[in-house]
Amino acid sequence: MMADHNISNNNIVLEVKNLYKRFGDNRVLNGFNLKLYQGENLVVMGKSGSGKSVMIKCLVGLMEADSGSISVMHHDITKLNQQALDVLRADIGFLFQGSALYDSMTVRENLEFPLRRHSRKNKAKLDTETQVVAALESVGLAHAIDLMPAELSGGMKRRVALARTLILQPKIILYDEPTSGLDPITAKEIIILMQDVQKKYKTSSLIITHDVDCARVISDRILLLIDGVDYAVGTYKALSTSEDPKIKAFFKQ
Ligand SMILES: Nc1ncnc2c1ncn2[C@@H]1O[C@H](COP(=O)(O)OP(=O)(O)OP(=O)(O)O)[C@@H](O)[C@H]1O
Ligand SMILES: [Mg+2]
Repeated sequence: MMADHNISNNNIVLEVKNLYKRFGDNRVLNGFNLKLYQGENLVVMGKSGSGKSVMIKCLVGLMEADSGSISVMHHDITKLNQQALDVLRADIGFLFQGSALYDSMTVRENLEFPLRRHSRKNKAKLDTETQVVAALESVGLAHAIDLMPAELSGGMKRRVALARTLILQPKIILYDEPTSGLDPITAKEIIILMQDVQKKYKTSSLIITHDVDCARVISDRILLLIDGVDYAVGTYKALSTSEDPKIKAFFKQ
């Protein structure tokens, strides 16, 4: 139904086909599909409990889907060996719902952590300190390097979490509710930061959000997850003017 907007190529970096996931009788994903194009911001919206986090966890391998396929850069991740999978995973950054920093580690240690886990990714052979400082600078928090998470505000935590994701220079970033729990002004700052990151690193992003304003500002396309399927996909303009009551429900303020 959609016309691709702002998408100058048809290079698909992430593709989900016919994904199924249930917990007992609770059929959460019922044949869900998704395509993420190179350089685009795809927003996924759905009611609370509709399966957005479950879907994203299947994408990053924190959960195993019952069936369906997931391809990253045209590699079906269900068919890769562990080593190939690890290499591919390093290309995908994931921002958890909440910020999920390690509370007992300083900001610096939180950022060093992914570097140690994915040491092969450091192609430029930059020293750790340089990489940590650069990532913090890109989110405007170089001064917070020696603070503990408990000393940060909610917005600062979100920024540090984004820096921790950026430090591996992922090609794809998955955001689960990046603005939830933040006041509108801080939420806006995070959105601007996400746009800056997109421009600077030319990442492709999948963004889960409840925030209609966030969706309007940041999306090239929006996908509505309803009843376990990709019920509708299109631009904000197309979806927000739809006459379908299930779609309309998302956009009436
Ligand atoms: N580990 C699990 N075990 C059993 N059920 C689960 C598990 N994780 C999620 N669920 C169920 O899957 C459904 C979807 O949950 P999910 O967290 O994906 O919702 P969501 O769309 O992200 O909601 P929200 O907008 O509130 O974050 C819910 O019914 C939830 O109870
Ligand atoms: Mg969720």
